Amino acid sequence: MILAAGSGTRMGGEIPKQFLPILGVPVLIRSVRAFDRCHSIDEIVIVTRESDIQTVEALCQEYGVSPKLKRVIAGGATRQKSAFLGVEAASKNCRFVAIHDAARCLITPEIVVSVLKEAYRHRAATAVYPIPDTVKRVDRRGRIKETLDRNELVAAATPQAFDRDYYIAVAAYAEKKETAVTDDNALFEAVGQTVYTVDCGGDNFKITTPGDLVRAEAALRARGEKETGK
Ligand code: C5P
Repeated sequence: MILAAGSGTRMGGEIPKQFLPILGVPVLIRSVRAFDRCHSIDEIVIVTRESDIQTVEALCQEYGVSPKLKRVIAGGATRQKSAFLGVEAASKNCRFVAIHDAARCLITPEIVVSVLKEAYRHRAATAVYPIPDTVKRVDRRGRIKETLDRNELVAAATPQAFDRDYYIAVAAYAEKKETAVTDDNALFEAVGQTVYTVDCGGDNFKITTPGDLVRAEAALRARGEKETGK
């Protein structure tokens, strides 16, 4: 499931970040393609803003996304809500779901498979990458309170993959308890369930600011990709 219902306000500009081209291919399409080309994925659901549904459908057609794409649906006010709506929209016979931020468009089919394998084993798994910086906890006035142990820290990325029934049970419980989370792993953490991690490498970063577009293009060129258009 590809999540693309955010407003992308940190990017500035008029075009939502999921539609910005990177070496000629829109961010969203890059993410969708990685799942489309992944042999472990049977079905794709895209969650977007209501006003973007037609644009997304047209882009998928233009870029030749396969019939694995089952639905393009409207998301909710938060990432948590959009993810839940997307999982509910998947076919009932889907046993596992992989939830992916559209903005992490350097994702590869190989990473998707690695995370899914871990989810098959443990029911809940997520892509993560090591944090190169020393991370501090600060108080409200910006004064350092604590240095966190770097060996114990990773950045949570996506895909985050789960046994579908398990996810729905945990997410519904979190909603009842009004637990607000910024990623799906946190739903499981909130009820004391274990999520296993897979190192996906720092290239799987989330396109957030204009500088990230340049960084993404550089990373793709390093992989040997050229400006392709379609
Ligand atoms: O806001 P943030 O960068 O954490 O969003 C992560 C992903 O969740 C993005 O791909 C964004 O499009 C998606 N999202 C969503 N629905 C929202 C908010 C964010 O699908 N209401």
